[in-house]
Amino acid sequence: MPMITEDFKPFEKTFSIHDVMEIIVIILNTRDPYTYEHSWRVSALSEAIISNMQIDEKWKEIIHLAAHLHDVGKIGVADMILNKPDKLTNSEFEKMKDHSEIGFKIVNSIPQLSEIALYVRYHHERWDGRGYPCGLAGADIPFGARVIAVADTFDAISSDRPYKTGKSYEEAFSEIERVRGTQLCPEIVDVFLNMKDEIPGILAEVNKEIAQKIII
Ligand SMILES: [Fe+2]
Ligand SMILES: [Fe+2]
Repeated sequence: MPMITEDFKPFEKTFSIHDVMEIIVIILNTRDPYTYEHSWRVSALSEAIISNMQIDEKWKEIIHLAAHLHDVGKIGVADMILNKPDKLTNSEFEKMKDHSEIGFKIVNSIPQLSEIALYVRYHHERWDGRGYPCGLAGADIPFGARVIAVADTFDAISSDRPYKTGKSYEEAFSEIERVRGTQLCPEIVDVFLNMKDEIPGILAEVNKEIAQKIII
């Protein structure tokens, strides 16, 4: 008979939803290390945006979890698209867009996460209504999705990909300012731009954390 390790006490410690989320993103890391690291940075930036707004603290946890999961649907995108070292063609990009709907279905399968699932679904909507998957505009886009969109855009511009070198933080801030009110919610962009001095420190900290976390 196989013996269980003597001091192992099954389920003595309960798991938080956050623990489970982290495991999900670690799974995602096996398919796509970039998205894993990106999800940590977007999570930290989104939470920092909330801290700089005069709103209920409960948002911090909701946004933190949603931002961790925002790209989880990439797990359902084919490897040749997900890990393509060059720029995607138009038809490949169309397939990549499915990740927000796939992510929504994954997260929405847990009823307690239905609110978070909405932010996952709508994180690529644009303030001017030209985003995807539904073309929502302005305040019709859930607030959490608008916060994640700002953090997501900043990280996408400033991080390295196989096909491009990330831009400097200064250039990324200018780009965020340029798309204020077209792609991104103006109110949240204003909060974000006021955090310019804080952001390099937040990202340095989170990059250190990621380096310790990567186990696969
Ligand atoms: Fe995304
Ligand atoms: Fe993203």
